[in-house]
Amino acid sequence: MASRMVLSLEWVDGEDGFLRLLDQTLLPREVRYLECRDAAVVWEAIHQLRVRGAPAIGIAAAYGLYLGVRKLAGCNDAAKFVREVDGVRDYLAGSRPTAVNLFWALDRMQKLAHRLAASTSVPAIASALLAEAQAIHDEDRRLCRAIGRHGAGLLQDGDGVLTHCNAGGLATSEYGTALAAIYAAVEAGKRVHVYADETRPLLQGARLTAWELQANGVPVTLLCDNMAAQVLREGRVQAVIVGADRIAANGDTANKIGTYGLAILAAYHGVPFYVAAPRTTFDLSLADGTKIPIEQRDPREVTHGFGRPTSPDGVDVYNPAFDVTPAKLIRGIIFEGGVISPVCTETIARALGGSETEVGFSDGAARRESRSSRDG
Ligand code: MRU
Repeated sequence: MASRMVLSLEWVDGEDGFLRLLDQTLLPREVRYLECRDAAVVWEAIHQLRVRGAPAIGIAAAYGLYLGVRKLAGCNDAAKFVREVDGVRDYLAGSRPTAVNLFWALDRMQKLAHRLAASTSVPAIASALLAEAQAIHDEDRRLCRAIGRHGAGLLQDGDGVLTHCNAGGLATSEYGTALAAIYAAVEAGKRVHVYADETRPLLQGARLTAWELQANGVPVTLLCDNMAAQVLREGRVQAVIVGADRIAANGDTANKIGTYGLAILAAYHGVPFYVAAPRTTFDLSLADGTKIPIEQRDPREVTHGFGRPTSPDGVDVYNPAFDVTPAKLIRGIIFEGGVISPVCTETIARALGGSETEVGFSDGAARRESRSSRDG
């Protein structure tokens, strides 16, 4: 299934290699690619959501850092090169504040440059940075596949699944996180019907999730955000699965604005609410979600959401791009090592500390728990 997916981003090799990004602001009407040859174009693409979704932002930023410093790859002053790395790192880190994958990827690149600087030539450091960005990209493919395998185990034949925003192939290297669970379930022969919230104000659910699922032949029904309660009440949904932009040490999870409300609705209706995210989305430096920075965006996204004014001139607008869902509303976090359930500081620390085989969090336990609460 992934082979038919339109790639959100791709490194194009060559003398003057570049990052090719799918401009997601134009979907679903137009499939157009953007060629990024310097850090400023990558910064703008992240800031404007041409590339978006936490893992894809991290991958783009890693390539962006390499693109930003490669002009100095021929110099023989390692200290100067590393200062440039630091500057480009800080510059790209200012493109968006919430998705921790951005900082994780940039810091990984920066650390590598610092480590190599003492003993390696500048051209070799530059090559290593490109290889590191490609490694981050490749790793994300594997993480998404593993998330899909674990997430699919939570779904049964005939399930309806509600999702919010886009946590699919477009938001990652290719397979997605929340949508990976659905793709893997479908690949395993289960019939799954997806309900996609349109996700105001920028309509990632309508423009991206509905488009991506349609393109991959997965049945999808589009909902306005305010219809979720009714759809849950009607019993059409057996699981809610969303992605994440940053997960604090205790499991509190930042994701697209509207996710928190959906988690409350799911709890009220006894429907299990899952978060799907790789370990690169966890921020263990934050004890809980209160300190997660929430991006505030341009009021025009709300007042001119459909290409024309939809409100009176001068009206006051509040436009946070994300909200934080408390851990206690999350039945399980699906990551590449399994399903963390219950969600709390101890289980997360244990899960992230172990390798895949060591993690003692079985999909079966989370599934049994969710089924019994649903049936009961
Ligand atoms: O503002 P966006 O479109 O970047 O927000 C994206 C989301 O909220 C996704 O759910 C999240 O990044 C997870 S993507 C696998």
